[in-house]
Amino acid sequence: MEADAVPSLASPEGGLSLDTYLDADGRPGYRLSHQNENGTVVLVDSSGLGLVFADGTDWSGGWMLGRYTDRQADQSWEQPWGEQRQIRDRHAERQLDLRREDGARMTLRFRLFEDGLGFRYELPDSLPSTVLADEATEFRLPGDPLCWWIPGDWDIYEHLYRTTRLSEIDATQYRNHQALAQTYIPENAVNTPMTARTEEGWYLAFHEAALTDYPGMTLALAEDQAGLLRSELVGRPDGMKADLQPGHQTPWRVILAVPEAPLLIASTTVLNLNAPSKIEDISWFEPTTYTGIWWDMHLGRKSWDMASGKHGATTEYAMEMIDFAAEANIGAILVEGWNTGWENWIGPGRPAEGPFDFVTPYPDYNLERVVQYGREKGVDLIMHHETSGMPLVYEHYMDSAFALMQRLGSHAVKTGYVGKLVPAGEYHHGQFMVRHYRKVLETAAQYQVAVNAHEPIKATGIRRTWPNAISREGLRGQEFNAWSPDGGNPPEHASIVAFTRMLGGPIDYTPGIVHIGLEPWKPDNRVNSTVAHQLALYVVFYSPIQMAPDLIEHYSGHPALDWISKVACDWEQTRVLAGEPGDFVAIARQERKSDAEGQPRWFLGAVTDEQPRSMRLPLDFLGEGQWRAVRFADGEGADWESNPLPLVVDTLTVEPGQELQLDLAAGGGTAIRFEALERP
Ligand code: NOJ
Ligand code: CA
Repeated sequence: MEADAVPSLASPEGGLSLDTYLDADGRPGYRLSHQNENGTVVLVDSSGLGLVFADGTDWSGGWMLGRYTDRQADQSWEQPWGEQRQIRDRHAERQLDLRREDGARMTLRFRLFEDGLGFRYELPDSLPSTVLADEATEFRLPGDPLCWWIPGDWDIYEHLYRTTRLSEIDATQYRNHQALAQTYIPENAVNTPMTARTEEGWYLAFHEAALTDYPGMTLALAEDQAGLLRSELVGRPDGMKADLQPGHQTPWRVILAVPEAPLLIASTTVLNLNAPSKIEDISWFEPTTYTGIWWDMHLGRKSWDMASGKHGATTEYAMEMIDFAAEANIGAILVEGWNTGWENWIGPGRPAEGPFDFVTPYPDYNLERVVQYGREKGVDLIMHHETSGMPLVYEHYMDSAFALMQRLGSHAVKTGYVGKLVPAGEYHHGQFMVRHYRKVLETAAQYQVAVNAHEPIKATGIRRTWPNAISREGLRGQEFNAWSPDGGNPPEHASIVAFTRMLGGPIDYTPGIVHIGLEPWKPDNRVNSTVAHQLALYVVFYSPIQMAPDLIEHYSGHPALDWISKVACDWEQTRVLAGEPGDFVAIARQERKSDAEGQPRWFLGAVTDEQPRSMRLPLDFLGEGQWRAVRFADGEGADWESNPLPLVVDTLTVEPGQELQLDLAAGGGTAIRFEALERP
């Protein structure tokens, strides 16, 4: 079958066009393009597809078309919480049913949205269980686009983003970073989401959706062909990639393709490629800000373990934290280091049976008393389960750990997977761990527990199916500013993360450090932004749980506390107002619930990189009438490097017809809360 045997498939409004074909060797392929007045702009050029099995069977050739079926879909659904309440799933679908002379069959399913493409492989029920050796999916990029990428590490995503041409990607130079407890970069590949700007000025992002019972996908640079990326799945001890069951469907391979960068962040395509929720009643979880006993440990002022003599998780400190949270309208606290085992939690001293049982508190931490006190004050407890990279130990204990949480009325846990995995030879992003992370979500749901995973598998929209996957790390978070020997996260970090990592889903970044210099505990480290930048991150980075991580004494009496105690973390709608990866981004979000007068508030966050930047933003997202804008902006002379602290808070009266000028300092930002003054 030649390319012209099956017509092109158009996206719902005609902006994108998909060609599917079988080449002369019977290898299936696709091509994604855009038509404009000057002709065709190729976004992803002819790229082959295929699977290779452990027994040598090569499914990247020898196919014939059985039939093709095109259909249209247009549905809306509601998120329990999120960046927006309503989501529209409008796409054109193509199903290619393929067969080979040896009797093999396979279906390729493509979904073309107005902002991108998803496709996956579907194996027949008749195929017996089999072992996958390789997935041979190609992504052929025309020209030499500018890319924002992290190395294709099989064990961690906590790398700095690099900005280079595609041809200049050199991931293996970032092997063995000294601040990473586990890292494995086998070849010159990148992790997804990776974002690129083409020579024509289009923005492409490569990712996957609905990663289920399959390894994570990295994208390897072909050595033999310029511009070609090949899927490289995370491997396992026997060198193979995955066990496949009859009827197995791979995750969706996703290419977002938009003419303007803000449309990447606004995209709901990754979510739409996931199945509807399997949790009938999720009303037991509510989005909230939280604070906790955490930054203390990263600063080294306190410790997780008791033997150190500076244990952080004491009953007394937790109660102090609850008092602070109650006063500041913060809904929950996280207490790390509450359970026995932290003396040998990491490294060679780690006991073979695992350091933790996830239910036994240290003697100076009265768990029941803390929970009871929190209940009296309306502050929930977020539990902490650090697995120390021992997933099977965690699976052994997790039912009793979640049962304890359910009994205490604690509905959220932060999990962690620091260190090289036991069993050795498995990686954090392989099929074994993808199964583990899912098993945790499924088990947690039975106990009404929501999960915020650190050292997680990447976000691929599973939160639609398992809404108790509330947030995760999976990037270089704030903690690197406290201790990384490489100087922490540079000012451009946030404006890259928003266009890369955040395309996967919610981020537990822990914004809001106001004591930028970290003295006296970490005089050689610091946060590389202004205070206003830190506040803007609460809106820029979406998460239904947002931490206020700094120490109580740093927030007390600080003007930032007014922002933190009122900022929302659940939204009716989101407008990505402006932005460019690596430079800046401005986002406005409307709070989902209404204030006492029945008026939902709007919040705006804008951040810039190391360049100062002014922008004029139209306020037409505001509803009719007058609004009080409480603005938290960089003060006179502010500059991330030499003068990060000046923060001015002022109040303006604004209307939707107006444009608002924002002046961001180098490494700075602006955060604005809009409260309705009157309605027409
Ligand atoms: C790494 C996590 O990212 C961090 O937030 C946590 O404090 C430590 N692990 C200990 O679990
Ligand atoms: Ca981490």
